[in-house]
Amino acid sequence: MSDIPRSALPHGVLSMHVLPADHHDRDWDAIIVPREVKERLLAQALLVLEHGRKLSMLSGLPHGLIVLAGPPGTGKTTMARGLAQVAALALARKGATVLLEINPHAFPSDMLGESQRNVTRLLTETVPEIAARRPFTVVLIDDVESFAVRRSTASFEANPVDVHRATDAVLLGIDEIAKNLPSVLFVTTTNFIEAVDEAFLSRADLVMRFSLPDRETIERILASAIGELAVQWPALLPLAQDTARLAALASLCEGWDGRRIRKLILAALAQRLEVARDPATLSWDDLFDAARKQGGVEWAGGQAPTSREMFPDVPRELMHDHDHGHALHDHAHPHPPTHTHQHDDGKKPLR
Ligand SMILES: Nc1ncnc2c1ncn2[C@@H]1O[C@H](COP(=O)(O)OP(=O)(O)O)[C@@H](O)[C@H]1O
Ligand SMILES: [Mg+2]
Repeated sequence: MSDIPRSALPHGVLSMHVLPADHHDRDWDAIIVPREVKERLLAQALLVLEHGRKLSMLSGLPHGLIVLAGPPGTGKTTMARGLAQVAALALARKGATVLLEINPHAFPSDMLGESQRNVTRLLTETVPEIAARRPFTVVLIDDVESFAVRRSTASFEANPVDVHRATDAVLLGIDEIAKNLPSVLFVTTTNFIEAVDEAFLSRADLVMRFSLPDRETIERILASAIGELAVQWPALLPLAQDTARLAALASLCEGWDGRRIRKLILAALAQRLEVARDPATLSWDDLFDAARKQGGVEWAGGQAPTSREMFPDVPRELMHDHDHGHALHDHAHPHPPTHTHQHDDGKKPLR
């Protein structure tokens, strides 16, 4: 049992997982970074989780705080989640690890005093209560710049006093947890480290800066993405093994972030209808085309065929156009209505 329904979660908590869990291995493995990076991160996490209590006796005590900073799409959030699972694997024989994901946007700073009260409740009640239930706790705060807003530049905010109070509450809370619950680990991420409060950053035991992938890493991300595709469509395996073409493709993706590189594969699958309907027919041309178009589309080509020109032979009985919702309460009608003219909630009837 690892997934707790969202409705049962305390305010500001996005999700809670008990780890290690089978389906949580993929995050760590998905992120391609040098070995040293993963090892340093894991060592930092294990140091706090395993030895936090003893280390809290030092005058330079750890705050149990890791900051992952860098451009969007470089794998920070994925790596943070993966770290919780790998740390949990390492500690499994000593007990379970809870991964708690915080929603930093659940603490709006525009209600006087409210934000501060909520942050205080989160850090002095919610986190300690959850941490008391299991031996190890990892708290993930994504986009931490909206949680620990840099006070020195917050003057443009609608209510700078409240921003100050909320950030003060974060610092106080982190300090309290470092003292009283030294084996709680905070893993935070930010795309915008300049907006994170300096006093918060100075409490970090490790600030790890992510950068855009280099050429070799791009190649490995492409190989990994195509390899994942080949698990579903084994005909694509040769593509994942063609190192020369992978290198050529990678050279078209220089300067891209990891997310965009993985999405290139999806864009390649959607270059042609034929491939979208049967991904096993993906070719190198599709991949190179998608890269050349930067994952987008060229606004070019002749006249597009009509819908019925493309799909002329859909059998009559599969068409749902025999009623238009006005038959909603017509009990004599054999089929439920399939077309109700409600465009507001996005819930289309199943077809
Ligand atoms: N270095 C990388 N290696 C492999 N995949 C990556 C890398 N960086 C990002 N990705 C992929 O990009 C996507 C977005 O990653 P995410 O963790 O959300 O980035 P961030 O939090 O930095 O914005 C994920 O699917 C991830 O697998
Ligand atoms: Mg992120």
